[in-house]
Amino acid sequence: MSPIFFDTHAHLHFPEFAADLSDVLQRAREAGVRFMLTIGTDVEDSRAAVALAEEHPDVYAAVGIHPHDAAQAGEAALEELERLAATSPKVVAIGEIGLDYYRNLSPREIQVGAFQEQLSLARRLRRPVLVHCREAHADALDILRGGMPVAGGIMHCFSGDVAVARQCLDLGLLISLAGPVTYPNARKLPEVIKLVPPERLVVETDCPFLPPQPYRGKRNEPAYLPITAARVAELKGQS
Ligand code: NI
Repeated sequence: MSPIFFDTHAHLHFPEFAADLSDVLQRAREAGVRFMLTIGTDVEDSRAAVALAEEHPDVYAAVGIHPHDAAQAGEAALEELERLAATSPKVVAIGEIGLDYYRNLSPREIQVGAFQEQLSLARRLRRPVLVHCREAHADALDILRGGMPVAGGIMHCFSGDVAVARQCLDLGLLISLAGPVTYPNARKLPEVIKLVPPERLVVETDCPFLPPQPYRGKRNEPAYLPITAARVAELKGQS
């Protein structure tokens, strides 16, 4: 029996896939990727994510405003996210939301406000959250401790160390590994994978970004997910 996969973090509605999406989805299905979650990064983009999910039975959507675009997270934007999540049965999570102190494309206090507002939206809607966190683990974990949704969530493209992973597990988060786990400089990730129980680990492509090692420099797509999953399994000592 060949394994089946769920790509927990993709951006299939991005312009990078506009020209050949049906081929991309076909290759995903042939690779055993049974389900995919396409994730919004602002209001307009979240609408596109929902529209795409409504066209394909194996694609689900998440709506949210990325920390890079946190300045957009005003009242009207949050209401629109709530409307999308409440009206489409394909919207299964709020994301991606969080903090990015690496690129700092929005001022930190704006990022914090947008993250808190969207966490409270997720609590109200009883949806899980998809958390983006770069070089901001202390603040992100503090904010999550102040209001983790009962539905839980995923720490996407995990980039922390073992101590951060432990705190995520304590909060009830799942830990998601993306293409970087296959890179020769994966640093702390092998230790993290050894720590996290298998039922708390998930995988993602974050496509079109972060392709696994053999495809570095190219566009990523869900069909490459088994490469990342195989590396995680290898580090875990499993098939
Ligand atoms: Ni993403």
